[in-house]
Amino acid sequence: MRTDTGQVIHLADYRPTDFVLERVDLTFELDPVETKVESRLIFHRREGVDHSAPLVLDGDGLTMTSLLFDQIEMETDRYTATSDSLTIRDLPADSPFEVTVTTLLNPSANTQLMGLYRSNGIYCTQCEAEGFRRITYFPDRPDVLAPYTINIIADKESCPLLLSNGNFLGGAGYGEGKHFAAWFDPHPKPSYLFALVAGDLGVVEDTFTTMSGREVALKIYVEHGKESRATYAMDALKRSMKWDEEVFGREYDLDIFMVVAVSDFNFGAMENKGLNIFNDKYVLADPATATDQDYANIEAIIAHEYFHNWTGNRITCRDWFQLCLKEGLTVFRDHEFSADARSRAVKRIAEVRHLRSEQFTEDSGPLAHPVRPASYREINNFYTTTVYEKGSEVTRMISTILGRDGFKKGMDLYFERHDGEAATVEDFVKSFQDANGRDFKQFSLWYNQAGTPQVTVSTTHDARAKTLTVSLEQMIPATPGQPNKEPMHIPLRFALIDEDGSDVTASGITGGEVTGDVLHLTERSQTFVFAGIASRAVLSINRGFSAPVTIHFDQSADDKRLIALHDSDLFSRWQAITDLARPVLAHAATQAAKNEDVGGDARFVDVLLQIAGDETLEPAFRAQALSLPSEADIARELGSDTDPDAVHAGREAILKQIADAGSDLFGKLYTALADVTGPFSPDAENAGRRALKNTALGFIALSDATPAHAAEAFAKADNMTDLSQALTVLAHRFPDCEETKSALEAFESRFADNALVIDKWFAIQATIPGDGALDRVKALVANKHYIANNPNRVRSAIGSLAFSNPTGFNRADGAAYDFLAAQILEIDKRNPQLAARLLTSMRSWRQLEPVRAEKAKAALSTIARADKLSADVRDIVDRVLKS
Ligand code: TRP
Ligand code: ZN
Repeated sequence: MRTDTGQVIHLADYRPTDFVLERVDLTFELDPVETKVESRLIFHRREGVDHSAPLVLDGDGLTMTSLLFDQIEMETDRYTATSDSLTIRDLPADSPFEVTVTTLLNPSANTQLMGLYRSNGIYCTQCEAEGFRRITYFPDRPDVLAPYTINIIADKESCPLLLSNGNFLGGAGYGEGKHFAAWFDPHPKPSYLFALVAGDLGVVEDTFTTMSGREVALKIYVEHGKESRATYAMDALKRSMKWDEEVFGREYDLDIFMVVAVSDFNFGAMENKGLNIFNDKYVLADPATATDQDYANIEAIIAHEYFHNWTGNRITCRDWFQLCLKEGLTVFRDHEFSADARSRAVKRIAEVRHLRSEQFTEDSGPLAHPVRPASYREINNFYTTTVYEKGSEVTRMISTILGRDGFKKGMDLYFERHDGEAATVEDFVKSFQDANGRDFKQFSLWYNQAGTPQVTVSTTHDARAKTLTVSLEQMIPATPGQPNKEPMHIPLRFALIDEDGSDVTASGITGGEVTGDVLHLTERSQTFVFAGIASRAVLSINRGFSAPVTIHFDQSADDKRLIALHDSDLFSRWQAITDLARPVLAHAATQAAKNEDVGGDARFVDVLLQIAGDETLEPAFRAQALSLPSEADIARELGSDTDPDAVHAGREAILKQIADAGSDLFGKLYTALADVTGPFSPDAENAGRRALKNTALGFIALSDATPAHAAEAFAKADNMTDLSQALTVLAHRFPDCEETKSALEAFESRFADNALVIDKWFAIQATIPGDGALDRVKALVANKHYIANNPNRVRSAIGSLAFSNPTGFNRADGAAYDFLAAQILEIDKRNPQLAARLLTSMRSWRQLEPVRAEKAKAALSTIARADKLSADVRDIVDRVLKS
């Protein structure tokens, strides 16, 4: 395990390497416990670099067995090798030279899942961000690009399949019982994109003909017997390839594109050149075992990793500070792909929900950082929702400001200028600037200033002057290391609507830049005046969530209801429902905290039920409208001194009012939507119908207060979406009844041999609200199905409690914090990345009421005091505790 060196890396310290890497030849002799890696590297000194400068290569826990210089054993006084670096002195002034390093690895003992490891008997690698240095000594940074030749030697019987990046060169027998394969990747790449896979796997094959007529072989490798569960991923892959050609003009560039699914993986998936490696959760699906959400995730992640081929691989990052250059942009691309493939409005609502609950929370706490950070201690901890999701929103704003064509021009120039390079955020922004002749200086603050901007809006109508005055003010809260902020460029899509929801057009707008339906807020406070507005006009602002900000708009409930019921923009309608719900839920929480009866708001319930029953609206949208802001959202709204039990109790009371008032409607909806027959289809329309049906089921169970309906739904379900939803209603609403017990047992025995479904079984139980959750999770981690080294399983048990069970995790006695702390210390010894990620669940501890906050702090301090922590956990615990 890499422990903390206390070293902080700064963006401002960037400088290129002293030596240029020309090519890389690697030979792997695979063995479960003693794999030999021979690495031949050809370098030359960069022009202008001091002739005495040594070559310093990165390592991490390496054992070197030989070192050659131009094929001759190197004198021991010319180098210094430690487990984490190799320094070579007295190198030629200007001629190229060759360094050959041999290292020995034990892939079976690699529980960190970084570098070369084994998952279910399969050899695989994960090199991003700094895993390559766990394989061999190397200039392990993204601005060192070279072509790679890879030779793999392995046992023929256990490893019939030998894969690496690029195109297959050839293979043959290799002595007794062994064989070898050679691969060559002609596209220069950084080490983090290297990959190797070896083992015995089944395959699904297809082909794709690119826009210039080249045929590409497509292969998805999964465990034998699971091939039929990879067909949806293959379909998503082909659609992604087509979409990237049509929308971004990007064509694939090798003869073969491979995806490999493994069951032990720290993240979702990895975009290694030509050989993507996936958490099998994001490849495998069939109706009996995958939910609609699983299908949507597979589609999005297959697309995301494929899109990286251009945004990440062909154009990579100069250094890790530029991570959003590939991640934010690629998330934007996968969001657009999914929006085109599904309902754009519903997709946008889901994105914004996710952004608010994850990124806004991160951005308002101790782990807040800019989309492009200026310093880091451990880069693994910067694969965050801010870099990914806020990074995507920043890209989206560029397209909002420039419009579709201007955005396309900028992207084209970016590809043209930087193909084959390791680029920066400045390069990216400059492409849009130069292609459109528009200045992005102020806009660039989005990359450097952390914190969610708060925009306050007010309007006044002057009937005599026929003007509507819109006053806007922006405030960006202080974040760690950034006490003061500059005003940003915030593009706000808007419309004015009349009593029927029709758009009202102003005869003129003054006060600042307006392009089409976008107001550009650039000053700290700014007033726009709309002329020619004779009668009531309601402002619908930040339509489509054009900017990732929080709007504070003291708009009347009447105006919000008008938007909720009549706006032509579906996103705005959902936003207005949310805005109506927020004060109702916040007030309910306050009443619950004082043990008062929760009053609720009949008019809000009316609006909601009107939307729920509106047959002209797509079911998926109605389901979104009915799922109120989460407990975490309400807690954020309340700000400080929050009591999670009161938030929960208040929200439950409001849900019950909705359930009772709408019991007829929910009954009708459930029957009508359950009545569809025909083969299962995971498409968005069918998924939307299931979503509304299962939402209705949840309300029915709440007003009925009996498990009968959910038990019947469980018995009848013919797909995993319905089955797992019915089980969730049973377990969460009626945790202790017989029906729940027998359903959980039936589910467990039916899917005992399917790891991904057993993960759901863990997660459903770990998220049962209330004080009992901790004992349940303790029992789950002692259960025979628990696998402490499998990240998916750990996340489904412990992660579900910490991230998705606010009342269970925030027990008033602090016992769940202590449990998490003890687990973190154990997990940290095996898998620091996983441990650090779980620990981020405590990032909002300061917002809790004082008793819980004290207990949370004590648990965090126990972690901080442990004598041996990974760099990953040390970095998070220090930042979370810092005042
Ligand atoms: N680059 C991957 C992506 O597409 C993220 C990733 C996968 C990753 N595995 C990782 C990041 C391990 C850090 C460590 O988003
Ligand atoms: Zn990515």
